[in-house]
Amino acid sequence: MTPYLLHSPPSSCMLPVTMLGFLMLIFSLCDALELKTKNSTHVMSSSEGTNIMLTCEAVGNPHPVYNWTCDGENMLENTNSLNITLVKHNTTCTCTATSYLGNITKTFHVHAEPRGCPLTLTASEIVVKFGDPISINCSTSATDVEGMGWEAPFGGTGFERPPVVTWRVDQVEEWTPSPSCYATLVDGSQCTVSPLITVYKTPDFVSVSDMDHGPMVEGREYDLKCDVISVAPVQNLTVTWYRGNETVQTETFNHFNMTPVNTSSTLRISPKRDYSGLTFRCEAELHLGPKGPQFLPNICSPPYTAVVLYAPEFKEGNESKEVLQGEDVTLSCSADSNPPSNIRWIYTAAVNSNVTTEGQQKIISITGVTSANAGIYICVAENEAGRNTRFISLVIKDKVPLLVIGVLLAVFAIGLIVLLVFIYYRNRHFFLDTVSHATDVPLTPASSNA
Ligand SMILES: *[C@@H]1O[C@H](CO)[C@@H](O)[C@H](O)[C@H]1NC(C)=O
Ligand SMILES: *[C@@H]1O[C@H](CO)[C@@H](O)[C@H](O)[C@H]1NC(C)=O
Ligand SMILES: *[C@@H]1O[C@H](CO)[C@@H](O)[C@H](O)[C@H]1NC(C)=O
Ligand SMILES: *[C@@H]1O[C@H](CO)[C@@H](O)[C@H](O)[C@H]1NC(C)=O
Ligand SMILES: *[C@@H]1O[C@H](CO)[C@@H](O)[C@H](O)[C@H]1NC(C)=O
Ligand SMILES: *[C@@H]1O[C@H](CO)[C@@H](O)[C@H](O)[C@H]1NC(C)=O
Ligand SMILES: *[C@@H]1O[C@H](CO)[C@@H](O)[C@H](O)[C@H]1NC(C)=O
Ligand SMILES: *[C@@H]1O[C@H](CO)[C@@H](O)[C@H](O)[C@H]1NC(C)=O
Ligand SMILES: *[C@@H]1O[C@H](CO)[C@@H](O)[C@H](O)[C@H]1NC(C)=O
Ligand SMILES: *[C@@H]1O[C@H](CO)[C@@H](O)[C@H](O)[C@H]1NC(C)=O
Ligand SMILES: *[C@@H]1O[C@H](CO)[C@@H](O)[C@H](O)[C@H]1NC(C)=O
Repeated sequence: MTPYLLHSPPSSCMLPVTMLGFLMLIFSLCDALELKTKNSTHVMSSSEGTNIMLTCEAVGNPHPVYNWTCDGENMLENTNSLNITLVKHNTTCTCTATSYLGNITKTFHVHAEPRGCPLTLTASEIVVKFGDPISINCSTSATDVEGMGWEAPFGGTGFERPPVVTWRVDQVEEWTPSPSCYATLVDGSQCTVSPLITVYKTPDFVSVSDMDHGPMVEGREYDLKCDVISVAPVQNLTVTWYRGNETVQTETFNHFNMTPVNTSSTLRISPKRDYSGLTFRCEAELHLGPKGPQFLPNICSPPYTAVVLYAPEFKEGNESKEVLQGEDVTLSCSADSNPPSNIRWIYTAAVNSNVTTEGQQKIISITGVTSANAGIYICVAENEAGRNTRFISLVIKDKVPLLVIGVLLAVFAIGLIVLLVFIYYRNRHFFLDTVSHATDVPLTPASSNA
């Protein structure tokens, strides 16, 4: 192949031979220089709305001529670069570099990556107390924003120059403020961004009440109710119940409402006697997430003091008591109860017994018990919460055993005396004998004989 012949321009034929020879030399040199760049295809990505520069560096001698087309349209650009401003959609551009040696085509597939609205809010999520001020900046760094502003029922702005517009409300008095910041781009399109605003309000008051109105009786079940008046938003509310200083229950609420509502929590309790005098409280707390206030806004109810009625319980159990006849006996009975119980004794009265009251206890006093006092003494304690009974069995023991011992001792002593007397009389005869012998016989031998 001889490109020289193919490409030699017709005009050169008219040049003088020497000139032709010179050109031939140059063209034979050019022969060695081709368009060094080959046809190629490039894929490029760029965010929507940004500017991009395509370059088509074709190496050749003489310098090639460039022709750019995008999506079939001639871009009227004849340098080796093409600037695409504000990339909007996927585009295919080709660059053709032509020299007399030939031409090469470079193809660019420009992918326009969709971008969001080029607006940034200083806070996209805001938690604000009802009545407090609020201010949000909307800013952009994009160059294709023609103007921007806030649209809102309160605090809206006009159409302003970029890069910052501020939405400001001195007192938030709406439960669902929904401002939005919009931008109009140079191509005429619009976009908006909206912050997420949570307006909260602590309850007007929180109170505990007993739904059964009145004192509780041990062993039954009762419901205490915690009323939370006017709180928002209820989905962020937590109610905590305390008995004394102990946490006994927490409750959250499933319903969703951005405006203030009244709600309640119920605590079921089986009162024990030691609950009497204890206080129950409930606390309403708003858990507003990491964007919320550092200290959880809360309201505590006034304390509710429990009154628990309980049936009497004796301090001592049933028993059997043994006493000796003639002794003094006291039987006392007292019970723990709320309210204080009515205590009475049931027994067979006798002349030597009476009942006295001493504080909370009832005492039976018996002076010099006799067998007539033996029997069952029943103490009955009763109040409105119930009654309880205690039995004391009184057993009277005769003093007989002592008497018997005395008699036995006496009998034994008499027996001993009789024995001694008997021995004495028997030996007296013997003594008399020896004495009579002693009168006959000299004392010395007699003593040796004896
Ligand atoms: C560039 O290319 C287009 C189409 O390929 C053609 O119509 C146009 O005439 C060319 N322009 C030049 C200066 O070569
Ligand atoms: C394209 O833009 C760059 C700067 O962004 C500039 O230097 C260059 O001259 C521009 N090219 C054309 C063909 O306008
Ligand atoms: C460009 O093409 C890519 C895939 O080839 C697609 O994901 C994207 O949405 C397209 N962009 C536009 C603006 O059509
Ligand atoms: C490019 O070169 C080819 C041959 O390689 C030719 O067919 C085509 O017409 C040329 N295109 C232009 C625009 O010069
Ligand atoms: C380059 O592409 C053009 C247009 O598609 C074509 O006419 C030419 O033959 C190609 N050249 C080579 C070397 O592939
Ligand atoms: C909002 O922008 C103004 C200036 O335009 C600045 O003074 C203020 O501090 C910004 N506020 C926030 C919350 O960034
Ligand atoms: C609750 O109070 C009692 C005394 O009133 C105390 O001994 C106890 O430690 C407290 N418990 C807590 C969890 O504060
Ligand atoms: C909440 O309760 C208060 C007082 O009981 C009442 O005035 C108010 O109307 C109630 N609010 C709602 C939303 O029911
Ligand atoms: C509480 O509020 C925050 C902010 O509004 C929210 O992100 C979170 O999901 C809420 N929590 C509950 C339990 O609703
Ligand atoms: C005494 O016994 C009776 C009958 O067994 C019983 O009902 C009562 O609870 C007992 N009282 C005490 C104090 O244990
Ligand atoms: C009841 O008994 C006590 C002690 O035995 C005695 O002091 C008191 O006088 C008696 N009272 C009556 C009214 O009998």
